[in-house]
Amino acid sequence: MSEQLIIFDTTLRDGEQSPGASMTKDEKVRIAKSLERMRVDIIEAGFPIASVGDFESVQAVARAVTESRVCGLARALGNDIERAGEALKDANASRIHTFIATSPIHMKMKLRMEPDQVIENAVKAVQRARQYTDDVEFSPEDAGRSEPDFLCRILEAVIDAGARTLNIPDTVGYNVPQQFGHLIHTLRERIPNSDKAVFSVHCHNDLGLAVANSLSAVANGARQVECTINGLGERAGNAALEEIVMAVRTRQDLFNCDTNIDTTQIVAASRLVSGITGFAVQPNKAIVGANAFAHESGIHQDGVLKNRETYEIMRAEDVGWHTNRIVLGKHSGRNAFRTRLEELGVIYESETELNAVFQRFKELADKKHEVFDEDIQALVSDTVAPNNERVRLISLKVTSETGETPVAMMTLCVDEEEKQVEMSGSGPVDAAFRAIEEIVQSQTELQLYSVNNITSGTDSQGEVNVRLEKGGRIVSGQGADTDIVIASAKAYIQALNKIIMPVDRAHPQV
Ligand code: KIV
Ligand code: ZN
Repeated sequence: MSEQLIIFDTTLRDGEQSPGASMTKDEKVRIAKSLERMRVDIIEAGFPIASVGDFESVQAVARAVTESRVCGLARALGNDIERAGEALKDANASRIHTFIATSPIHMKMKLRMEPDQVIENAVKAVQRARQYTDDVEFSPEDAGRSEPDFLCRILEAVIDAGARTLNIPDTVGYNVPQQFGHLIHTLRERIPNSDKAVFSVHCHNDLGLAVANSLSAVANGARQVECTINGLGERAGNAALEEIVMAVRTRQDLFNCDTNIDTTQIVAASRLVSGITGFAVQPNKAIVGANAFAHESGIHQDGVLKNRETYEIMRAEDVGWHTNRIVLGKHSGRNAFRTRLEELGVIYESETELNAVFQRFKELADKKHEVFDEDIQALVSDTVAPNNERVRLISLKVTSETGETPVAMMTLCVDEEEKQVEMSGSGPVDAAFRAIEEIVQSQTELQLYSVNNITSGTDSQGEVNVRLEKGGRIVSGQGADTDIVIASAKAYIQALNKIIMPVDRAHPQV
């Protein structure tokens, strides 16, 4: 009988620590619901003490999700744990994840603590967390560079204090698979009470080994993997959920465990996360890249047509790629539209939201001959905007002509007041961005601007990503429209709305 491999998703916490990937509360709830639909076991929703916004996001996820367990991160500090416990109060099932660094360099340089003090703090933190929930996870941060003897001591102590999951992070992505697997094996063998806890791993991808290290740990008895959609995360990211899940599922001959994940929801979740964060998925990315199941060379195509297993180890439809890509036309009704959204794993909050998206779909179907699945997914991301936005686009007209300077006439609603300007620029997008800045005066710096067509053909919607920076804070915005200048303005405004919201936010590991 295969054992269960627990999937702990940290897209909303570690994924969000990636510069530019910050998400609003509503966006986090949408991603959490998509993870719940995928049957993720545990969703790490955030670091509640970081800010009021982070607290409210964790609370909102805890209230919205009923099937998955919702987890909040806390340093080994009383106030952190109290805040996490409060944020998770309404969850159907909750977990507190507390951590403290254990590597010599972190203890000396960051914590300025002696090893015994670190153990004492860890034990107190676990005991405190147990006052809020029976489900407490402990992580010795930078375990990948910690001394195994010390890890054994601290882990034995926290199990006695009530930790039920021991998560071993390779915080800086320094380990290699054989070594990391051996570490898990050693800890399980040497810690006398190790059978009272589930061993978990949390690998960063600095050497491109996060997934390989996690799988090596699983082969050595780890039964929880911490991962993120699309491998989003600090620096080079975390282990990619989709790769872990599909490796274990595809190689059941090697792993005596499997996950509960509904793999057909993977592509929808990947698109949702990349749409919200603006972190595009590279075409050759395993499982969720656009080319992951495409065959170019004639020899491969011939083989696949004769018997797909000649060149395919997984079926595209098993991870949520749809062969039936043409969806609906302008005569399609609301029910057909709703069914298609559900098939695609697209999350909408209410009937009002569905109506707004349906209205946008009708407008798009009027402009565009065929509406594809990708169009629908972009429409939903574009329509379901938070209702607390300070800046809204009312209208945009751009004139552009050979030999003339393009001019944008822009009307925005800023804090409920309509403002209008006319600005020129080196191109239509430049003129539109200057017009927005003329009104908002945000003094942000544009770090990235990119346009991709969502489907093929010149009538395709353009999807624009914009990344803005102000005072070291980076945010991203996305917009989609068949008119790329309008898509660009929408993306810029979405990013602006994020950056003009004041935040005073703590980073868990600094
Ligand atoms: O990478 C890391 O060590 C972490 C911990 C907070 C688990 O994210
Ligand atoms: Zn991490």
